[in-house]
Amino acid sequence: MNSEPIIRLQNVTKRIGRNTIIDDLTFDVPQGEIFGFLGPNGAGKTTTIRMIVGLMAMTRGQIVIKGKNIKTEFEQAIRHVGAIVENPEMYKFLSGYLNLVHYARMVPGVSKERIDEVVKLVKLENRIHDKVKKYSLGMRQRLGVAQALLHRPSLLILDEPTNGLDPAGIRELRDYLRLLTRTEGITVIVSSHLLSEMELMCDRVAILQQGKLVDVKPIQHFTQGSEQAPTYRIEAQPAAQALGILSQMEGIQELQAVEDGRIQFTTDRERVPDILEQLMHNRVRLYGVETVRLSLEDRFLEITGSGGKQIG
Ligand SMILES: Nc1ncnc2c1ncn2[C@@H]1O[C@H](COP(=O)(O)OP(=O)(O)OP(=O)(O)O)[C@@H](O)[C@H]1O
Ligand SMILES: [Mg+2]
Repeated sequence: MNSEPIIRLQNVTKRIGRNTIIDDLTFDVPQGEIFGFLGPNGAGKTTTIRMIVGLMAMTRGQIVIKGKNIKTEFEQAIRHVGAIVENPEMYKFLSGYLNLVHYARMVPGVSKERIDEVVKLVKLENRIHDKVKKYSLGMRQRLGVAQALLHRPSLLILDEPTNGLDPAGIRELRDYLRLLTRTEGITVIVSSHLLSEMELMCDRVAILQQGKLVDVKPIQHFTQGSEQAPTYRIEAQPAAQALGILSQMEGIQELQAVEDGRIQFTTDRERVPDILEQLMHNRVRLYGVETVRLSLEDRFLEITGSGGKQIG
């Protein structure tokens, strides 16, 4: 992997009136990855994307795409980007193919061969001569991606591409985005409010919450072991003794003392009764046991601090 980031955001801030919608975002997107903007409704995903593609001006900060600053070298910077921000405009009464031909006329240097190539890439060969009005949502989505790819961008940005897709559609999208990263060396940025979808698609995610960057992590850091091995928090006294016993036991990960003298660790649910028994056997007094993390979605809610199950 090339070490130079495809895109670098530095202190990117957007204020509208008195509201700070995007607050001091700084992060890099590495080349060749599928990178997710993850956050609940209103977190600022679309706004960030709009600023990256120049649809909206920043109040403060820098965005550099392949070494080109979008403020001072917009043309050179944006040349590397293909994006679907709002629903792409398609002529429904024309075939997918004619839509691409029509669009290609507006982009310099797009050959007929390139059109065929992108159609193959998004796997629309069999339906490309059908009218767009006969397409399913997933097929329209692909046609949009094909259009965004025509000028050979090195960065493809898709705002909520899984919207309305079923799990199979999401998986297919993931598969051909992967193919793009592999065969064309493209970097992809996608946004979503669902961690479970991001898990299927991304190498890395940036978590946004109320316009702020909460974290940027490889997706495995969210998913590893979290389903089978929840995190438990216990209130035990003496806490130091409990910690000592737990540190000697098998199958306990991420053991740590947390606030109020409580102890937290990750383990298989099946291990919990034995662990508690062992503590009591060693004269540790237990005042409570709670499950801190249950699922990916819970974990995401924990990170973003959202309340109920429904995000946004
Ligand atoms: N043109 C605008 N004028 C005023 N406020 C705006 C404007 N555009 C966005 N906002 C506000 O900025 C915040 C971020 O909106 P944005 O659309 O970027 O969120 P999002 O993460 O894309 O959410 P969603 O998941 O719903 O698409 C919201 O509070 C929104 O109301
Ligand atoms: Mg949005």
